Amino acid sequence: MEETSFRTHQCGNLNERHSESRVTVVGWVNRRRDHGHLLFVDLRDSSGMIQIVFNPDENQEAYEIANEVRAEYVVQVTGTVVKRQEGSENETLSTGSIEVKADSILVLNKSLTPPFPINQEDNVEESLRLQYRYLDLRRERMNRNLKLRHNVIKAIRSYMDANDFVEIETPVLGLATPEGARDYLVPSRVHQGQFYALPQSPQQWKQLLMVAGFDRYYQIARCYRDEDLRADRQPEFTQLDFEMSFVDEDDILTLTEKLFLKLAELVSEEFSINDSFPRITYAESMERFGTDKPDLRYGLEIQDFTDHARDSGFRVFEEAVAQGGRLRGILVNGGSDTPRKALDKMVDLAKENGAGGLIWMSFDGEGALNTLTKEDIRSPVAKFFDLEQLSAIAHTAGGQRGDLILLAVGEDKVTSKTLDALRRHIAGQRNLASAEEIVFAFITEFPMFEWDEEESRWSAMHHLFTAPFDEDIDLLDTDPGAVRSRAYDLVANGWELSSGSIRIHSRELQEKILMTLGLSMDEARDKFGHMLDAFEYGTPPHGGFAPGVDRLVALFAGEKDIREVIAFPKTKSASDLLMGAPSTVSKRQLSEVYIETVGDD
Ligand code: AMO
Repeated sequence: MEETSFRTHQCGNLNERHSESRVTVVGWVNRRRDHGHLLFVDLRDSSGMIQIVFNPDENQEAYEIANEVRAEYVVQVTGTVVKRQEGSENETLSTGSIEVKADSILVLNKSLTPPFPINQEDNVEESLRLQYRYLDLRRERMNRNLKLRHNVIKAIRSYMDANDFVEIETPVLGLATPEGARDYLVPSRVHQGQFYALPQSPQQWKQLLMVAGFDRYYQIARCYRDEDLRADRQPEFTQLDFEMSFVDEDDILTLTEKLFLKLAELVSEEFSINDSFPRITYAESMERFGTDKPDLRYGLEIQDFTDHARDSGFRVFEEAVAQGGRLRGILVNGGSDTPRKALDKMVDLAKENGAGGLIWMSFDGEGALNTLTKEDIRSPVAKFFDLEQLSAIAHTAGGQRGDLILLAVGEDKVTSKTLDALRRHIAGQRNLASAEEIVFAFITEFPMFEWDEEESRWSAMHHLFTAPFDEDIDLLDTDPGAVRSRAYDLVANGWELSSGSIRIHSRELQEKILMTLGLSMDEARDKFGHMLDAFEYGTPPHGGFAPGVDRLVALFAGEKDIREVIAFPKTKSASDLLMGAPSTVSKRQLSEVYIETVGDD
């Protein structure tokens, strides 16, 4: 329904079939061009753009009004659709073969000169874009991104509905919890000194909906976390939050894969997308890629060279291995042409990631590997090894002449972090990650806990409601670090898109996990008593997932920062530059919620 009392058509929807029709269109002046005798106005509305022509010989009054309009004026134009003269078509515009010959124009509203051009994809400073977001959103790229977001959410709703999920809203004012990220707190006026917390996710509510017997729940849920922000993190963001009863990992991952393949149809013209998602265990992912969110668009897999380090005669290697470390590395095919400066940069990158250093070896010359001579091998450590040792390393790597090998030695934690960073760095430098490809994968069997150095205690790697593997439950008392959880992630192109797990559904096990996390029984009952109680009333086995909508849309839009797919995002310092939030509030407002600020009398 594009017809309203203001228009007969939307600008972008006109085409040759409308030739010779009289139409009325409304929109913003994208650009006005004076071609001596004729005036051209590109008129833009949310559907696209149409060229309007004003000819003084045909209508002097309309021409004179059009002569006065400026960029971003809102005008209403009536005229006749005609085919453009041969040779003056514009192929970049969907309406480029036609134009409207105007016979009247009405200025509905004027506009100041915008602080940045709306009609070009200029590199405008982000703070200015966010301050005038309503103008920024007029630009084509943002218009496209938000419509894509709309279509993604529409397709999600349709898929979930077709699969018997019930959409249920859950509260935004909830209970503060000691685990997870920092909460956003809301002071209570009615209960002096007490606070609500905004939900970091609807995790507990969705589990309680399973206790309530809903079987399949979903929600396009807004989540709030007071954490340090990055390109893929906003303080408030959106999840497709869902939960299912009577399922195991395979049920959830299979359903999710089908959902994502359905969503992928929305961008199938822009991207090639894998049609079955590999399932990789956390341990395997760390081994092969050094990260739990690998970019699978390229190889550069990490390999183990520890056998070449043991008894190598090279002290750095031998000592690291004696201390339980390993020698791991990456083969870069064709990498022996890497300039010295670029190699030095890689060494710096390794150091920034905690490695003592990075060893590189490049294999030059012509011919098979077994014809290598020592002169063919360049490496800062070449003098510590004989030819046989160096050839053996190249052989293990599957290398050829012309290749480069990068090696890091030490604890797995450090070599993984280092080689992951290098993998991404090299892929960037050598253009290995295609911008037209998306590779999805599931990562499974995460560790249950990670050691929190700062607090000297175990913390939940996913969250505290995640179930451990049955066969690992005994390890909870003896070796918590070795317990595997039934958590899984969906990753794509180096992004974590979704996290979820099969949950604990017994009080006893939930209490045990809370104790392992260092809570006393009193704290556990105080903070999580409602969940523990619920588990005693016939809780079904259940599990769920929560894809991040902002990250997914950014991926589909080819954007690197999720702010580009959020209508009104916050800056990296969590400010809303348009409204000016956060702000101070009056003493009266504060006293109503029993808050005194520093410096108050
Ligand atoms: P988790 O905390 O891993 O899991 O979040 C799930 C997904 O939400 C997205 N996400 C974010 N997106 C933008 N900005 C942020 N600050 C941000 N934080 C998270 C990511 C992430 O993969 N309740 C559990 C899910 C479950 O177990 O079902 C949860 O929230 O895409």
